Amino acid sequence: MNLFDPTLYTEVRKPLDQAQGLPPACYFDEAFYQRELDTIFHAGWVMVGRTERLPEPGCFFTAEFGATRLILTRADDGRLHALANTCRHRGAPLLEGEGRCKTIACPYHAWTYGLDGTLLGAPGMKESLGFDTADYPLRSARVDTWGGFIFVCLSPLTAPLATWLGDLPQRLAMYGFEHMRTARRVSYDVACNWKVWVENFMEGYHIPTVHRSTISRQKAVNIPEDPGRGEYTAIYERHEGTRALLFGDTGFPPIETLSGDSCEGSRFVLAYPATMLAIANDTMWSFEAHPLSAVRTRIVLTACFPAQRFERADYAELAAHYFKRQDIVVREDNDISELQQRGLQSFHAVPGRFSVKEKIVHALDNWVLDRVLGGPSLHASVPLKALA
Ligand code: FES
Ligand SMILES: [Fe+2]
Repeated sequence: MNLFDPTLYTEVRKPLDQAQGLPPACYFDEAFYQRELDTIFHAGWVMVGRTERLPEPGCFFTAEFGATRLILTRADDGRLHALANTCRHRGAPLLEGEGRCKTIACPYHAWTYGLDGTLLGAPGMKESLGFDTADYPLRSARVDTWGGFIFVCLSPLTAPLATWLGDLPQRLAMYGFEHMRTARRVSYDVACNWKVWVENFMEGYHIPTVHRSTISRQKAVNIPEDPGRGEYTAIYERHEGTRALLFGDTGFPPIETLSGDSCEGSRFVLAYPATMLAIANDTMWSFEAHPLSAVRTRIVLTACFPAQRFERADYAELAAHYFKRQDIVVREDNDISELQQRGLQSFHAVPGRFSVKEKIVHALDNWVLDRVLGGPSLHASVPLKALA
């Protein structure tokens, strides 16, 4: 089967109520995955965490998705950098995890870089003719922020982050993400294709079954949001109270700046390709889906509350209720995603029909096809090797 033949996707391209899903091979085929990395993950804007992860000059953390290995730093002048985590000498990775450092020293032969990527020192290179440290800075990716989130983009040709997100920041402004603080960051390695997890996150069809004993006890009406201007899609769920707690648990009051339907429901946002937001009236959780291989994905949950909640005497007690809900429900989603992946890779798997409750699944699949098949794309992509 040639997965790059557009005629294979005639049924996926139909309107939702007539459409069927992607061929199962799109969820494990190596060539399809590599094309996704080239045209999506190495071309679009990918969120890698909150700015609080780099509070001061000298702070760093590493990020990994697809074939990308980056070091995010805050340099001495306070600016953020996304540096390639591969030495300009013979390619060794420079840092892992997160922490603080004054310079970045390669563990192999001790070439040393500044936090802006400048090569500061290269011992033993004096006899190498014409060698100039100025010619060997760490390669870098674009970095930008919105609402306290750090995004990176490997392609110099992709539109700026503000254009990519379009009117999304404006639509979500009343939540005040930039005034929120991180309560915890949790990472899960899940044995499924990245699309399996993202599709599950963006549909409520599975809630009565997968979450039958947890969040399905709260009745909610699912309403797709009006399409906006930008690389994102969203659902609004109308319900009473918060969706971020288990039935009977108490939590924080609603975010003070909310009005209208934001007070009476939740929003689920997918900023393509794989930045997800679950926004209740009292908390915001982001989920990053970072592909590690065609069939493995790292999911990172960052839970945030308005900054003033952290001052409360009962902060720890109430925050624990949200964490309990996250631990249980995310595990349910991870388990069903791994189960679905196993079925997709079985001999008899074929595409099935969509329910109208799967609007965003259909939208994501078509968004992916637009890029993978080289169709109408607002954002040109370039292979990694063409980057500066
Ligand atoms: S590989 Fe980094 S100094 Fe040699
Ligand atoms: Fe779920």
